[in-house]
Amino acid sequence: MTGKSLEIRNVSKIYRIGGLIGATKIAAVDRVNLSLSLEAGQAQVLSLVGESGSGKTTLARMILHLVQPTHGEIIIDGMNTGGRLSRSQLRIFRRRAQPIFQNPFESFSSRKTVDSYLFETARNILGAKSKADAYKAVDEALVNVGLSAERVIGRYPNQFSGGELQRISVARAMIPHPELLVADEPVSMIDASMRMNVVNLFKKLRDEFNVTILYITHDLSTAYYVSDRIAIMYRGNIVESGPSAAVLKKPVHPYTELLLDSVAKIGEKWGEVVRLPDMETKEYGYVGCKFAERCPYVRDICRKVKPPMVAAEDGREVLCFKPVDYEDVEQKQVTK
Ligand SMILES: Nc1ncnc2c1ncn2[C@@H]1O[C@H](COP(=O)(O)OP(=O)(O)OP(=O)(O)O)[C@@H](O)[C@H]1O
Ligand SMILES: [Mg+2]
Repeated sequence: MTGKSLEIRNVSKIYRIGGLIGATKIAAVDRVNLSLSLEAGQAQVLSLVGESGSGKTTLARMILHLVQPTHGEIIIDGMNTGGRLSRSQLRIFRRRAQPIFQNPFESFSSRKTVDSYLFETARNILGAKSKADAYKAVDEALVNVGLSAERVIGRYPNQFSGGELQRISVARAMIPHPELLVADEPVSMIDASMRMNVVNLFKKLRDEFNVTILYITHDLSTAYYVSDRIAIMYRGNIVESGPSAAVLKKPVHPYTELLLDSVAKIGEKWGEVVRLPDMETKEYGYVGCKFAERCPYVRDICRKVKPPMVAAEDGREVLCFKPVDYEDVEQKQVTK
């Protein structure tokens, strides 16, 4: 495996809404750059947080090759996956990157036993040649999530709790030994008492199988707990990213500050607290900073010029004029 397991270069997804006449465009994901390297060969967990509609799922679906980016490149372990892939490339890709979705009861049909999904993955993605090989792969994956083939085979989704079913989703995703797991709000639909169980599983998989995990969440407390790095998304942009502890303890971007202020303490969701004014569709092609209207530090330049991505010494990047000298921003080579 190369040094960078996931690299997102200048990726956008533009949606057109409405008919031919009066159609508007929105940038669900707007020129995102993000890379996740293996630090000294060690995989990391990256949390992607942001309020509803900020573009997290769209970004995740592009990484998973379920949605085609409008612009930009996505490179997973050296393989450019943003464009079209042939059948054989797709097979390779599915071995490298696997999804875990939000609602485990939707991931499995109620009419099929859950093991059918596991065996299908073992055969079609891992490439198990015999029944015995497939069984071995399925059992191993289930044992790694605290279950076993014996306990799971022959049962239907309604015979499991949401937490168990989500662990089975994780086991399914791990069957081909992927390098990257993309988990889109994997614990939001399951019982609060079972959440840490799944979150802890991510740490274990990172450490034991060196799998890079993109963990999408609204929940700052689990993000803080589980992730090595964090990226904060606001209206299609990653406005701040860096080591989780640094970003959450000492936010630099005014939006990260606002998020942390609006949760009375780490551990509460902010979805209900922070409301977005309805201006998304006007933002396409917006020249300045999208956060300018809500920013307590706003200056004239913020409304006129797209903010630079500023790199700080602690490994953090912030899309903002605030950390730089506003006046000489144009002379400084801080933009990526
Ligand atoms: N297929 C689509 N067609 C048009 N607009 C879309 C489509 N998918 C997403 N969007 C828009 O893109 C923006 C980002 O949506 P996305 O689902 O990625 O956000 P999110 O951060 O995952 O939100 P949530 O936290 O609610 O899951 C939203 O404004 C959404 O309405
Ligand atoms: Mg989403």
